Amino acid sequence: MALKYIIKALKILPRKIKLDSVMVEIKRMLEQEMDYAQELEYLKLYQNKLEAIDGVRCVAPVERYCQENILATYFEDAYSIEYACQQSDFDSAARNKLGGSLLEIYYYEIFKWGLIQTDAHFGNYLISKDYQEIIMLDFGATKKLDEVIRLNYAKLIQSCISGSEQQFFQAAKDFGYTFNHDQQQAFWQYAQMIRAPHLSEYYDWGASNLDLKAIELIPKLMGYFPAGEVIGDTIFVDRKLMGLYYLLKKLKANIKVDELYLATLEKIKG
Ligand SMILES: Nc1ncnc2c1ncn2[C@@H]1O[C@H](COP(=O)(O)OP(=O)(O)O)[C@@H](O)[C@H]1O
Ligand SMILES: [Mg+2]
Repeated sequence: MALKYIIKALKILPRKIKLDSVMVEIKRMLEQEMDYAQELEYLKLYQNKLEAIDGVRCVAPVERYCQENILATYFEDAYSIEYACQQSDFDSAARNKLGGSLLEIYYYEIFKWGLIQTDAHFGNYLISKDYQEIIMLDFGATKKLDEVIRLNYAKLIQSCISGSEQQFFQAAKDFGYTFNHDQQQAFWQYAQMIRAPHLSEYYDWGASNLDLKAIELIPKLMGYFPAGEVIGDTIFVDRKLMGLYYLLKKLKANIKVDELYLATLEKIKG
């Protein structure tokens, strides 16, 4: 369970930050992960919503066996991500297609659904044996974003991608954060990492070292943590972004990210 890493990470944050709402959020998510009736509801929602996206579906529930403490799904005879990635016939066309589908899910989650499967680690996805589909498994850590938070988060991500520093800090301010000059610089550097895959025609996740760059920045960000209360909702959305990064890296996806992003926004609007 990835939650324990979040809790550990919180212990190294500077003491001046108020984490009350983060703790409330973690407790809520832990309780939710044990609530199988709730998970079934999210699974059914995703079943329906994923129809909008090519190359991805989720496991199908066996509702007659589902109970408060049991979530039954039909067995998928498919590969784990780890196993698929070791196969020589898992070619780049299939890797790029599935990577693109994963990115598309994220765009839909933030820009349309306000529903986020936040636990994007390898164990929560399978790959069909013909490598044509990602199969999502685990909706225990699905988060429903309040519409105000969703819109603000969408603004934050959009500003990173478009490179609008002013819009980025306005969105951060709307979350309740205030920054001095040094903090602003460090956080803008961090925001640029979300932009990086959009700057070249193709982005090669297999060759990406953005994770190492982000780790290098952490001590600086810690020292410069902005004032205000950390908004609980955002930690799970950030966890998603990190999980998605490692999934794309594992797939060695090489994608026209900006083209996909713009096309998805058009599809969402249309
Ligand atoms: N319907 C299914 N078909 C095949 N394998 C599955 C199915 N559901 C779960 N699994 C396997 O079980 C593992 C754990 O399932 P998951 O739903 O992620 O539960 P948990 O809440 O324990 O993380 C998955 O990584 C996958 O390997
Ligand atoms: Mg799981």
